[in-house]
Amino acid sequence: MLSYRHGYHAGNHADVLKHLVLLGLLQRLLSKDKPFTYIDSHSGAGVYDLNSAEARLNTEHASGISRVWHSRSDDPLLSLYVGRVRALNEDGRLRWYPGSPMLAADCLRAEDHMHLLELHPAEVEELRFNHLHGLGTDDRVSIHQRDAFEGLLAITPPEPRRGLALIDPAYEDKQDYQKVVNTVLKLQRRWPVGIVAVWYPLLARQRDRSAWLKSAFARENLPDLLSIELSVEEQAEDFGMHGSGMLIINAPWQFREQMQATLGALMKELSAGCSFTIDSPGSVVTRG
Ligand SMILES: C[S@@+](CC[C@H](N)C(=O)[O-])C[C@H]1O[C@@H](n2cnc3c(N)ncnc32)[C@H](O)[C@@H]1O
Repeated sequence: MLSYRHGYHAGNHADVLKHLVLLGLLQRLLSKDKPFTYIDSHSGAGVYDLNSAEARLNTEHASGISRVWHSRSDDPLLSLYVGRVRALNEDGRLRWYPGSPMLAADCLRAEDHMHLLELHPAEVEELRFNHLHGLGTDDRVSIHQRDAFEGLLAITPPEPRRGLALIDPAYEDKQDYQKVVNTVLKLQRRWPVGIVAVWYPLLARQRDRSAWLKSAFARENLPDLLSIELSVEEQAEDFGMHGSGMLIINAPWQFREQMQATLGALMKELSAGCSFTIDSPGSVVTRG
């Protein structure tokens, strides 16, 4: 079952959170003069047209990037992120939104490597097209049409060993929660130095699922575990997703403090009903 297409959701509040965290983690990897590997287990199409029929169906970007992209914040991470979006929309009209592969591709140096995994044939085709026309024909980038959970384990530990895996399932299939936990535990054993960032939704009607995922991670005593959640106003019944979170393993030093400042700055751009929490599952919660 592969009915999910990210084009319907591109640039929403969940993308804003996920892509801020992604850029923040990539900046940490870039801060050392040593190569790294980036793995995107669920890559999507790479870049999205917000004028497409899919994006216009629910205009989900209205609660996300549309509110943020004019930000003049001096928070370095927030300005880096909005700068990337502005660079794609040079005429000052928001039309193109970068997916995680494109945001990461812009960070790669000569010795860095990127693996992009995606199963949906149409998304892979678009990713290859974007790879060729937007991301450049590039031998630092490998595109794999394969299952994320199987593929992720097959290509780890990667070379270079330093690096980051983003795990961003659509959770269309509720088995994905269990698959995420099983895969992350195996991944951690194979690749203990890898930073792992897992996205998850906060669902109005299935609140127990995100709580289950967090407690499954908390029980495993994973190193430097951080959970960062962004909640927006409750949406109309049929939307269901009132926020999202990121679970990070091997979170870099003072990443919590950095995200606290960035999400604090983000709150000034989003609507009044938004809030965030940062915690190390099993310990102290920081609210904003
Ligand atoms: C939330 S979207 C990815 C968005 C992208 N990471 C970004 O931030 O721009 C999830 C993607 O996972 C793909 N997908 C779903 N099941 C998959 C699987 N088992 N293996 C690989 N990709 C899968 C979907 O086709 C979809 O493109």
